[in-house]
Amino acid sequence: MAEHVTLFEVGPRDGLQNEKTQIATADKIKLVGLLSDAGLTRIEAASFVSPKWVPQMADAAQVMAGIDRRAGVRYAALTPNMRGLEGAVAAKADEVAIFVSASEGFSKANINATMAESLDRLRPVAQAALDAGVKLRGYVSCVTDCPFDGPVPPHNTAFMAEALMRMGCYEVSLGDTIGHATPRTTTLMLDAVLSAVPAAQLAGHFHDTKGAALDNIEASLALGLRTFDAAVGGLGGCPYAPGASGNVATEAVVERLSALGYETGVDPVALAKAAAFARSLVAGG
Ligand code: HMG
Ligand code: MG
Repeated sequence: MAEHVTLFEVGPRDGLQNEKTQIATADKIKLVGLLSDAGLTRIEAASFVSPKWVPQMADAAQVMAGIDRRAGVRYAALTPNMRGLEGAVAAKADEVAIFVSASEGFSKANINATMAESLDRLRPVAQAALDAGVKLRGYVSCVTDCPFDGPVPPHNTAFMAEALMRMGCYEVSLGDTIGHATPRTTTLMLDAVLSAVPAAQLAGHFHDTKGAALDNIEASLALGLRTFDAAVGGLGGCPYAPGASGNVATEAVVERLSALGYETGVDPVALAKAAAFARSLVAGG
């Protein structure tokens, strides 16, 4: 039987957060429904961040309230602080994600905190999530390259990933935020992270700026990772990471994994429908 790889769909959050034109709440809800129809079982539907920083996510509570929740699907929300966590818990997110950076430049630009400050800020947030019985996921951004600081030492990424695990995350997603990683830098970074966190608790999160995301996924598979983030239609970018382009497209990941002999449980026909709808929502789509 083919080995299973889990896809964590970030399109409704990471994919849409960068769009300048406000997308209708009803369309975001419809997109989450189409993704659920396609067999994705983990979907990040919104983020409870400051609307001053990311206006596109200002309707997170309405999106979470409007989605049709399917059995067996976990709907996640990104949270930067206690206020975000409270919003996500009130909105009945099945899991919340906290996020840090492996580089100081991006940490300051994205969350207005140093790396050390971000860990101090998130410790009580993580504890409150666990106390509320909500699953906790972590992200480390800029795991190999930072738009401000350049190449990132692998031990920075390992340190931040381990810190998130100590806070109680069941999984840490390793983000190549600006899509500059190569299979070589991915492998060097993972070698360091794997000395602190087992592969079963790691996810790869690749952006496809330079067209290397699928090769970076293959490099990660070779080191034992079996969970990958992706955004339907290849949507995405981060408003605080200049030059960051889209996330790797979910449909491209499904196709590559299938060619490599892995199964994902995702229906490619239903996914293509979701991808067409996703592209229709964004500028130039
Ligand atoms: P700050 O300005 O330092 O802090 O922002 P603040 O506490 O002064 O908050 C500013 C204003 O936002 C205040 O409003 C707060 O009340 C409000 P005012 O008093 O001025 O009217 N506020 C909030 N409103 C709603 N929900 C909240 C919230 N918190 C504060 N949760 C802060 C610090 C962390 C809040 C801000 O920097 C922020 O929200 N940053 C989020 C940026 C973001 O979402 N970036 C994209 C996600 S990360 C990413 O994409 C990477 C990833 O995909 C992985 C990868 O690709 O590598 C995860
Ligand atoms: Mg991202």
